[in-house]
Amino acid sequence: MKLYLDTGNVDEIREAVSYGLVDGITTNPSLVSKEGRDFKDLLLEICSLVDGPISAEVVSVEAEAMVQEGRELAKIHQNIIVKCPLIPEGLKATKQLASEGIRVNVTLCFSPTQALLAAKAGAWCVSPFIGRLDDVSSDGMELIDQILTIYENYDYPTQVLVASVRHPQHVVEAALLGGHICTMPYSVFQQLVKHPLTDIGLKKFLADWEARKSSTK
Ligand code: E4P
Repeated sequence: MKLYLDTGNVDEIREAVSYGLVDGITTNPSLVSKEGRDFKDLLLEICSLVDGPISAEVVSVEAEAMVQEGRELAKIHQNIIVKCPLIPEGLKATKQLASEGIRVNVTLCFSPTQALLAAKAGAWCVSPFIGRLDDVSSDGMELIDQILTIYENYDYPTQVLVASVRHPQHVVEAALLGGHICTMPYSVFQQLVKHPLTDIGLKKFLADWEARKSSTK
């Protein structure tokens, strides 16, 4: 499973990239706004830090304007994936951008029918927001399972990008189901490696090694 960071913060990206395990980045207008920077400059810096797909979202809500915006975003760097929202205009824009060879991440997906339409429009990936579904007492992971089955049934090449991840268990479940990509906040990425028994075990190994050194002098 590809691991992406869901952030527009270059310090977080730099830190996570140092593990050598980050496959790409997703941003959205809320995350970008938090950084208070020029969008293009920020995207260029992110592209210089991560050699992988970088999602950048359009903010227009009409297909023609989305297509224009998408073309401009795609020109910024070859690794930019244009994000379009899952509304009728977004699907029209996706179809057009995909026909021009521009990769589209269809975002804000909350149902299997929406995901089916995204695949038919030629999306490079679809982003079901599982945490936001869990927040309203729906089962986000059930949606991932349904989308994967639908895509497999018809051999759609659209990848399932598990988004709105809140905790490591979401990552585990995404991987068990065979999600293609999982994007997560930096805090969740950091949690993936942590286990108290690893820390306790390492402390003991190192203490025993020190003790051995003193006893074999
Ligand atoms: C995905 O691309 C979105 O940016 C993101 O996962 C949304 O997550 P949130 O529900 O935590 O805002």
